[in-house]
Amino acid sequence: MRHIIDLSDLKMEEFNELYKLTSNIIDRPEGYTEACRGKVLGSLFYEPSTRTNLSFSTAMKRLGGSVIGFSNPSASSTTKGETLDDTITMVSNYADMIVMRHPSEGAATAASFFSEVPVINAGDGGHLHPTQTLTDMITILRLRGSADNMKIGICGDLKYGRTVHSLIRFLANYKNVQFYLIAPRQLAIPEYLRQFMRENKMKFFEVSGLEPVIPMLDVLYMTRIQRERFADIAVYESLRGIYCLTKAKLRDAKKDLLVMHPLPRVDEIAKDVDDDPRAVYFDQARFGMYARMALLLTLSKEPRYRMPKNIPGRPNLRCTNPKCITRSETYLPMETHRTPEGERCIYCEQAVEYRKRRVVVEWE
Ligand code: NCD
Repeated sequence: MRHIIDLSDLKMEEFNELYKLTSNIIDRPEGYTEACRGKVLGSLFYEPSTRTNLSFSTAMKRLGGSVIGFSNPSASSTTKGETLDDTITMVSNYADMIVMRHPSEGAATAASFFSEVPVINAGDGGHLHPTQTLTDMITILRLRGSADNMKIGICGDLKYGRTVHSLIRFLANYKNVQFYLIAPRQLAIPEYLRQFMRENKMKFFEVSGLEPVIPMLDVLYMTRIQRERFADIAVYESLRGIYCLTKAKLRDAKKDLLVMHPLPRVDEIAKDVDDDPRAVYFDQARFGMYARMALLLTLSKEPRYRMPKNIPGRPNLRCTNPKCITRSETYLPMETHRTPEGERCIYCEQAVEYRKRRVVVEWE
């Protein structure tokens, strides 16, 4: 069963097929208006979304399919205490594919264990956001021809920005990509990604200033500071507005630079940049809809598959990440991946710890 938890779940040949299909849809959308007739997308948004939610719904409708679900968890049975596994088991009875956004990290992996139909991760906390990466890659390939040999600056919230995490991982597939990771120390990329980049021999520089690197870049990927993910709002307040790209700052940039942003923007790109031909963030959002059409059409051909329930797991293991889905959905079986840096949680990829067995003293 094919689930899309991260875009790196696709082999490069599969991604190239998806790119070809997206290009065909962009060039000839009228050829696809019946392609998903009779198919149903279950759309479960436990966290706010405008673009991703609307672009998935529009994509499904443009393929002739229909959409069920919710965009606000308070309108679902979650408020009655229903667990994620039951919601997923139930929705996968009704739908042919599920797209899900959730505030907990690793939620999409958890959902994939209980779904008979493909699960698409539309964002799991600060962890991953593969369909935004699909959107970003289609934009780079359509507008630049290739993602090889480029200098990409990624600026803003590299700690909590899930679009950044998925994009960095996927760019491991390309040759000679140099990364300028522009962030204050408090918002630097997570250590597991730094290790990933070293293991994959990816060249990266961590810097805090935006202006000095702009002239070198082929792509500048701006992101907003993710207010909702800060435990202490005072820390957010101290960092807000730290980067703001303006028309004046683009004066020494390359003529064919691509300025990208997953959107929504807050204050990190001034409106005076919008008219610059190098600003492609609204085109990027449009490409995202076509990319999601290609993804839905491809996954709609997957057969149904029932996973064995009751995966044993290891009860004495615990994920150290307080935002991991295993912290709120405590019945989830705990397991790890082995990496050169040790064992990592299969859901959110953070470090795990072993709990001592609880000794039960019985009174005589
Ligand atoms: C992004 C997200 O949800 O992570 N938005 C999107 O899907 N286009 C970026 C963000 O919210 O900052």
